[in-house]
Amino acid sequence: MRFPDGFLWGAATAAYQIEGAVSEDGRGPSIWDTFSHTPGAVLRGDTGDIACDHYHRWPADLDLLSSLGVNSYRFSVAWPRVLPTGDGDVNIKGLDFYDRLTDGLLERGITPMVTLYHWDLPQGLQDRGGWASRDTAFRFADYVQVVHQRLADRVPYWLTLNEPYCSAFVGHLDGTHAPGLRDERVAVTALHHLLLGHGLAVQALRAGGVTGQVGITCNLTSVRAASTDPADEEAARRLDLHENRMFLDPLFRGEYPLDAVAQYGDLDFVRDDDLAVISAPLDYFGINYYERHAVRASPADPVRGWERVPPAEPTLTGIGVDPRGLREILERVHRDYTSLPLVVTETGLALHDYVGPDGEVADDERIAFFDGHVRAAHEALANGVPLFGFFPWSFLDNFEWASGYGVRYGLYYVDYATQERRPKRSAAWYQQLIRANGAAR
Ligand code: FCB
Repeated sequence: MRFPDGFLWGAATAAYQIEGAVSEDGRGPSIWDTFSHTPGAVLRGDTGDIACDHYHRWPADLDLLSSLGVNSYRFSVAWPRVLPTGDGDVNIKGLDFYDRLTDGLLERGITPMVTLYHWDLPQGLQDRGGWASRDTAFRFADYVQVVHQRLADRVPYWLTLNEPYCSAFVGHLDGTHAPGLRDERVAVTALHHLLLGHGLAVQALRAGGVTGQVGITCNLTSVRAASTDPADEEAARRLDLHENRMFLDPLFRGEYPLDAVAQYGDLDFVRDDDLAVISAPLDYFGINYYERHAVRASPADPVRGWERVPPAEPTLTGIGVDPRGLREILERVHRDYTSLPLVVTETGLALHDYVGPDGEVADDERIAFFDGHVRAAHEALANGVPLFGFFPWSFLDNFEWASGYGVRYGLYYVDYATQERRPKRSAAWYQQLIRANGAAR
């Protein structure tokens, strides 16, 4: 198994999950500050107030990335650092941070991949309706323009949004992520405005004379019916709509799927030309992969009509491990939606890692997880998918949203009391994989 020369072996993080320093240098509050400080919203009341303190420790963290051997690093820019209330005056100190980070990466020979929105909407915009308000899409494009002006000369890969599914449905329907709403109509409206914001951001990047590649990252799932019973097949179709087609169809075909109206009701918030904006050509497409699941009809839930079949061996987050889904998704996207270059912008495994008496963090299950997923990615490549990179989630253990610090995903273990970082076994494994560019280990 060998990957093409120049293949991007990276690691991924997001601002709110690692930075901390939430009120420093003029940063404004985001919906995740509000949500994490809401009693009961996050496991054990954890917040991102300190997180990995990366805002202060970034030079040492970049040195760790160097020793890991990655040639790329995916991080996100916090909108509320750049525009503390969402619009209005630019906070230069916020931009300075990402400027230093970008230079620090380049000095170490690491290619930056910048996510412009990884869920930390400025609270000021939420107070004016958040993503349920059409105006937020335009404010996003303004913010993107500001970041772009500062970093465009050095950033070769841009991603507009991370996982619009989670922003829309986990945040506005399940209610387990910020802003914690539970309303399907609002969720689907937010979904549309997120995608519109993406399209307007692409325009802003192109208008700014972008030098880098422009893309978006979606989390996609591999869905199959639990049986050949037509009711289960219908359930699988609906879940596939909800998790995949509601994003892929507008982005790559310029239309919402025909069955969307039956599922969600009239999409009357869509205006003329929106879909042309949303489907403007991209340079590459990012995929986050975590789930492959069987689905069956659920008479108990007539509205959605489906339920996921619980996996035989659930992980800490309740999902199964199944690398086949990664290959299936890569091949499906390539076959049915786009010939664009693809990149795995995230995949990873949650564990209760701990430092053993010998000082080691023996995360052998994570090694097996990544080994399987790297192999699945390689199979997709061998089958003609133009895959150009793989970014494990995550570089460091960090604030895992509603799970707080209760689960760990990092290649590096973080002791939150001392902020000490320690490479897990998986980091050593990954270092070798990178050195050999995937060759047999
Ligand atoms: C993804 C998120 C990322 C991280 C992983 C585990 O949905 O994009 O921030 O939380 O899940």
